[in-house]
Amino acid sequence: MSPFNSSTREIPAVTGVPRHVAIIMDGNGRWAKKRLMPRVAGHSRGVEAVRNTIAAAIDRGIEFLTLFAFSSENWRRPADEVSFLMQLFVRSLRKEIARMHANGIRFRVIGDLARFDSSLIELITESEELTAGNERLQLTVAANYGGRWDILQAVEQLMQDFPDKREGFTEDEIAQRLSMSYAPEPDLFIRTGGEQRISNFLLWQLAYTELHFTDILWPDFDASALDTAIASYRQRERRFGRTSEQLTAGTAGTPSAPHA
Ligand code: IPE
Ligand code: IPE
Ligand code: MG
Repeated sequence: MSPFNSSTREIPAVTGVPRHVAIIMDGNGRWAKKRLMPRVAGHSRGVEAVRNTIAAAIDRGIEFLTLFAFSSENWRRPADEVSFLMQLFVRSLRKEIARMHANGIRFRVIGDLARFDSSLIELITESEELTAGNERLQLTVAANYGGRWDILQAVEQLMQDFPDKREGFTEDEIAQRLSMSYAPEPDLFIRTGGEQRISNFLLWQLAYTELHFTDILWPDFDASALDTAIASYRQRERRFGRTSEQLTAGTAGTPSAPHA
């Protein structure tokens, strides 16, 4: 059972620091192109931005950080870029996992791992097991992830769990089977690189997330860029369907009907 309720059913507490930040790390290729470097050089520099962002997230008391590293659609890229990205993932994880563990980071990967090499799957499993007891920051990397895949696999699990049931499913029954059921829904979504789209990221979970788009290319993303995103988040009024007046009156936390 997930300890968290869906934002469309119950209003989560709103705090100054977002509990869960989810990021589409985009713009590596353009960062490299601007410097007349091969696209993959941008991916390598992107790893440094990941390291800095994790440190900044811990510093600011963010509890869950979710990073989109490779989408189910990214297999369409040239084979050598895909293979470089896979190798970069393996190399970076091998290099960083001990330090992440020492820093109290719990590491997880979400996505359809079936398409990965067995050595990468093994490395992911080992890293998840090593850090399973950590609580300072819950870091999730989405790899070969697609929001539609996630909903579909949840529905398939649900049908296996209740083979005779044909109707009357609840949102919670699906949410509990999504690959991030261990986390509250993201409070803040950030996409770097200037594109304003979701690209099949956490479709279900982003239903009520505050969205922040920035032109900064991912390799240039740093603590101050994160602070800008958090500052923008703090300006938002998270109404979850209520009126502004209800929020000011402080009566918004008590739904009058199950779906109100
Ligand atoms: C994001 O950067 C990294 C991945 C998708 C793996 P891109 O590689 O998409 O960079 P742009 O969008 O081409 O600049
Ligand atoms: C989305 O980036 C996925 C990741 C950052 C891993 P893309 O750059 O591949 O997205 P689209 O295809 O341009 O929307
Ligand atoms: Mg891109």
